[in-house]
Parts: sequence; structure tokens; C-alpha cells
Amino acid sequence: MTPDVRPLVAGNWKMNGTRQSLGEIKAMAEGVLGPLSEQVDTLLCPPMTLLYVATALCTDSPLMVGAQDCHQKTCGAHTGDISAEMIADCFGTHVIVGHSERRTDHGETDHIVRDKACAAHEAELTAIICIGETENQRDAYETLDVLRRQLLGSVPEGATAENTVIAYEPVWAIGSGVTPTSEDVAVAHAFMRSELIRRFGEEGKMMRLLYGGSVKPDNAAKLMSIDNVDGALIGGASLKAEDFLAIYGVYEGLIAETL
Ligand code: PGA
Repeated sequence: MTPDVRPLVAGNWKMNGTRQSLGEIKAMAEGVLGPLSEQVDTLLCPPMTLLYVATALCTDSPLMVGAQDCHQKTCGAHTGDISAEMIADCFGTHVIVGHSERRTDHGETDHIVRDKACAAHEAELTAIICIGETENQRDAYETLDVLRRQLLGSVPEGATAENTVIAYEPVWAIGSGVTPTSEDVAVAHAFMRSELIRRFGEEGKMMRLLYGGSVKPDNAAKLMSIDNVDGALIGGASLKAEDFLAIYGVYEGLIAETL
């Protein structure tokens, strides 16, 4: 955690979820009602097909709804793509950009990711910019170099603590059930914090830094208690309301410990 930074627990459903899953969204929306929501933000990023109906289900809930990607342009001849403006039009508040699966599957470069983050900002969405090293890069001790390069390349000049969240997701930890050690997470997050402060000053101190990659109910308390870890980006474990809410719930204890 970072003093005075409000944690964010975010779910990324990836290419999962049909109308049958709307019950899970409803359960999440109801499950986050309560006093903890005054101190911890929650967000769900379902597939685009469910975005509009998800925002409708969340109108009376603090659970925010976002998308998993946007195009860098506002409109035009880009078959199959979705603009940030369209996400905002469906009452989405956030958009994930630069997830490693998009960097790999769709050849997205830091430059493209930065343009997408700018498009998100133009549409008044918060961009969740994902960065993280591959297994080979980790084995070659290149993690911090990769993070420096991706932060510089993917985070636009106009980033603020309000419109930007950074998610550190080691590629090898995503969906694998394996997480880095607490020490490794602490080093990576402290490094990102110092890079952001160097570039953005005070804003850099307040930017939220999420950890993502195999976050589960049983490891969340350990991961979320690390300095400069201001929340989680959760894939697999966010598909079930029960698991998502259990991860959110660890903040009950963590906040009590800081009092
Ligand atoms: P995971 O995915 O929690 O299933 O590892 C995280 C992510 O890709 O955001």
C-alpha cells in the first residue's frame, strides 16, 4: 500500500463471459456495497459485449465498469475496433491498454499503447497501462530495464494520478498460478514509483500501481500489503464474484492494520 493512495481492485474477464455471467456481475455489484467501498475502489472489465448491460447493473453500486482495450483513434474505418469514446458512451470509466496478451496477439508496441492511453484520456477515461517482463527477460535480469522502457514508451506526458493507473504484470505470472516473491514485487514497484516521481513529480507519488498475475484469494493479503502495491488486476479469479469479493475483502484487514 502507499500512504494516502486509494487502492483499486480490478477484474479483467478477458475473452470470457456471456449473458449467463450477468449473475456474477450482479453479485459483485451487491457484494461491494458497504463501508469498505469508502476506502477501496472496485472495477470490472467484462468483454465489450457485456459492457453496456454491466454498467446498467452497476448504477446503484460503487463497482465501476471498464473495457479491456480501445483503438487509438476516435472513429473511422477500423473494422472490429472500439474507440474510447464508445466505451465512455456505454458509461465505462476505465480502459485497460497494453495488456501483454494484446502486445503479443496484436503486435501492440509501446508507441501504440501510449496513443491508446491518450485516446482514453481524451474520452475522459482512466487508462490502466499494463507493463511487465517476460520469463526470458526476467531470467536475463532485465526486469527493471524493461519496466523503465515500457513506462517511458507507454505512459503519455499528460498522465496524472487521476487519469492513469499502472499495472505491473510479469508475463510469466499471468494465468500460471506462479507469482513473484514479495521481495521481487517490492523491488519492481519501488522502481516504478521512483521512475514516475522522476518524470511526474507529485503526481507520480499518487499514481496507483497495481500488481497483476495469478492474484487469488489466498495470496492477495500478502501481495496487497507490499509497499507501493495499490491494488490488483485480477484475471482468472475475477470470473467468480466470490473470489473477486474475497480479494477485495482482504483490504478490511490491511486497512485495520494501518490504523
Ligand atoms: P490472472 O490474469 O489473474 O489470470 O493471472 C491477470 C491479468 O492478465 O490481468
